[in-house]
Amino acid sequence: MSEMVRKAGNEEIINHWIMAVSCILLIITGYGFLFQLKGVYALFGGNYAMKVVHNWAGVVFIVSLFATMFNYLREALTYDADDWAWIKMGGGYLSKSAKKAPPMGKLNTGQKFYYLVILAAGIVIAASGFSIWQVQGNRALTQVSHLVHNLAFILFVVAVPVHAYLGTLANPGTFRIMVYGTVPIEFARKKYPKWMKEIGK
Ligand code: HEM
Repeated sequence: MSEMVRKAGNEEIINHWIMAVSCILLIITGYGFLFQLKGVYALFGGNYAMKVVHNWAGVVFIVSLFATMFNYLREALTYDADDWAWIKMGGGYLSKSAKKAPPMGKLNTGQKFYYLVILAAGIVIAASGFSIWQVQGNRALTQVSHLVHNLAFILFVVAVPVHAYLGTLANPGTFRIMVYGTVPIEFARKKYPKWMKEIGK
């Protein structure tokens, strides 16, 4: 068996599962509320029970999102010329031409953006959700909170499935990071050459 490189630690793997499950619960229940889907209400034991699930899944999600700061924030705020080259060619996702993507570090440019967008949208959706949940008697604030909450929700509904697709079917070999935290060394050298150099492998 080929040598493995550890890309994610155990606490990172567990936190990612907590984040993914709570986020999917939020998307399903949020979708149910938005379109008042009786079938979804029934799935969670009615409107009230679904609200309780949604609110507390929101608390779990934002706590797990804050826990990611130690793992990704520094990397996600570090850019160089290769990132600009990556952006110019759309990460190579948009064309079938054989042009090679520039060498990347531990996260590629798209992953850095994804992280920052989810972090910002997560803070906005949690703050507006908390306001809808806890602040009573201020109609204007509640209305603005609903609008902001729904706009951030649209972003999640688009970004999370794209992320899940890129982490599974679109990039075979990547999903094992979410389960084991490791990848074969040849895979890592191809995908994250700058990071491998950094850690001397
Ligand atoms: C729903 C199913 C999901 C799958 C299959 C999935 C898959 C993955 C995989 C395989 C990685 C490692 C990528 C790498 O290191 O190259 C990853 C990383 C990550 N995931 Fe997920 N994920 C899912 C849901 C989520 C959700 C709901 C969030 C947050 C809203 C999230 C946030 C992140 C972040 C911030 C990273 C690190 C940066 C990145 O690789 O983009 N993931 N995910």
